[in-house]
Formats: sequence, C-alpha cells, structure tokens
Amino acid sequence: MSKDYVDLEDLPGVGASTAEKLREAGFSTIESIAVASPSELSSAVEIGESTAAKIISAARKMADIGGFETGDRIFEKRKQVGKIKTGSDALNTLLGGGIETQAITEFYGEFGSGKTQICHQLAINVQLPEEEGGLAGSVIIIDTENTFRPERIKQIAENRGLDPEEILKNIHVARAYNSNHQILLVDNAMELANRLKEENNPVRLIVVDSLTAHFRAEYVGRGTLADRQQKLNRHLHDLLRFADLYNSAVVVTNQVQAKPDTFFGDPTKPIGGHILGHTATFRLYLRKGKGNLRIARLVDSPYLPEGEAVFAVTERGIEDK
Ligand SMILES: Nc1ncnc2c1ncn2[C@@H]1O[C@H](COP(=O)(O)OP(=O)(O)OP(=O)(O)O)[C@@H](O)[C@H]1O
Ligand SMILES: [Mg+2]
Repeated sequence: MSKDYVDLEDLPGVGASTAEKLREAGFSTIESIAVASPSELSSAVEIGESTAAKIISAARKMADIGGFETGDRIFEKRKQVGKIKTGSDALNTLLGGGIETQAITEFYGEFGSGKTQICHQLAINVQLPEEEGGLAGSVIIIDTENTFRPERIKQIAENRGLDPEEILKNIHVARAYNSNHQILLVDNAMELANRLKEENNPVRLIVVDSLTAHFRAEYVGRGTLADRQQKLNRHLHDLLRFADLYNSAVVVTNQVQAKPDTFFGDPTKPIGGHILGHTATFRLYLRKGKGNLRIARLVDSPYLPEGEAVFAVTERGIEDK
C-alpha cells in the first residue's frame, strides 16, 4: 500500500542526518518546512541558503501549501466540510448544524461557563458515525490547564450507552506546559494525525483548552501585548492549517472575566479577538444561567445569523434544557 503522507526523508537533498537535525530544530513535518524561510532553515540545520530554498520549495509542492486554488477546487473542498453535533439541538441549530471542520470555533466565557464540558462532549461525539452526529474520527486535545478528566468522559459515555474504553482510546491528550510548548504541540499533532490517517482513524477534531491561559500568564504588561498577539496569531494559523490539511474541526477555549473593567477589557471582546476575526471562525460567548443551564451566543459568524441558545450541563454531558 502506498502511504498517503510524506516523511522529511522524502524531500530531495534531505538524508537521515539532515532530517534528524530538522526534527531537533522543531521542523518535524513537511508543512512546518513549507512555511519556513530559507534563512530560518539554513541557520537551524547548518545548510546553505540555496539548499534550504530548494528543500522549502519541494516541501511546498508536497504539502500543497501556498499555491492558488481555483474556485471549483475550493468548492469541492467546502463540500467535504463535516459537522460535529454538540449534544444540544438548540446549540446545533445556533451553529447551523454543529461544529464545522476546516474552521476554528472559539468558546469564550467566564469560569464554569461550560467551555471544558463542551470539549469533553465533542471529544466523544466526533467518534460517532455520521448518522449519529459524529464524523467517525479520533480527537487530539491540547490540555493547558490540566482539566481533561477521563472519568468525565467515562461518565458521559456510559450514560449514553457507549463503550467508555473504546471512546477513551481515540482521545489523544497532551499537556502543554507553557505557550511555546503549546505551539510546538501542533506540529506533534500533525505527525500524529498523519499516522492516524494511515491507520484509517483520521483526526477530525483538535481541541486547545485553554487557547489563551498560558499566553495570558506569560505576557503581563502592555509592553508585551504585541509579542503575545504575534505568537497567538502564528499559533492560530498553525491550527487553521491543521483544520485545512486534515479536514478537521478546531475548537479553542478562552476564559474571560465577567467584570468589564479588567485588564483584558470587555468580556465580549476576548483576547486574540481581532486575529480570530480574520479566520473562518465561529465564536460563541457562553454565560451561566439558572442552575445547570448555560446560554451560548453566536458572535461574528461569517455567514450565520447572530442568536442565542440555552443548553444544560448534566451527568449526560451537554443536552437541551
Ligand atoms: N459530572 C458533572 N455532572 C454535571 N455537571 C457537571 C459535571 N462536571 C462539571 N459539571 C458542570 O460544569 C461546570 C464546569 O464547567 P467547565 O469546567 O466546562 O467550565 P469552564 O468554562 O471550562 O471554566 P474555566 O474557565 O474555569 O476553565 C461545573 O460548574 C458544573 O456545573
Ligand atoms: Mg475549562
């Protein structure tokens, strides 16, 4: 069987030792090389810039990155967009059917508003067959706050008549210890996604929960805001590329405080706001209702009308109220 992805060693002029140096320098995928600059690559692995340029251009061809696409091809690709059901019909309707692949969906809201609960539910639902609201795929979770709980997955799965062991096997979790690590984990995720694709268990959802916590903690003070935005921007573009390459959904969370006078400002304008706004993104603002009820508001969607949906967080996960 011919493999449907490429190794670094498949690039012309890249032997085992160069490949190893590239990996050590963080260029672990064809995609990461395709978007590097010749000077970046040549200094990272001690090769001449012209050799680096040749490697980059080969990587671009192989990764199919950076070229123009015709409208009919984009249309074909858009037809592949899949939707993951959330567990709540009201929320699905608000989202135009569910969480879309080839896009980034951001859930933002204060603590306890249900962001992590939605991520747990989606990690289960993406595995279901299409007729049951899933995409028959596996999931990668980048957990930055150590809030992933296999016990919660087990509880929801059992309450829905699913086999918790099978469900947990298809959830690949990595802890991110700081923002740099978090960014690097997207490269690792691409390697894992290549492998899982080969094993006919494609990744159809990647979760970053929380997208912003490390950035927020590490970049304090106005002077570093621009740096933070730039890094966050790069991270989001990596994620969007992941969405594109693997026809995967990307779900990110972002905590905001309900108090409007905090450093990060208006709660309806989350950090990274204007950057996320430039990508094909669905942005949902979550707030607490009575008891286990939560209200989601769709903000700034590229084509869906703004609106609100009420859902419940229960022992069965996310459901209608
Ligand atoms: N097993 C469970 N059964 C029922 N409800 C639960 C269960 N686990 C969590 N919840 C509900 O989910 C809420 C926590 O939501 P969640 O952890 O998703 O918040 P969050 O938006 O991720 O907050 P943060 O910003 O702190 O990460 C709890 O307050 C509780 O209401
Ligand atoms: Mg959380």
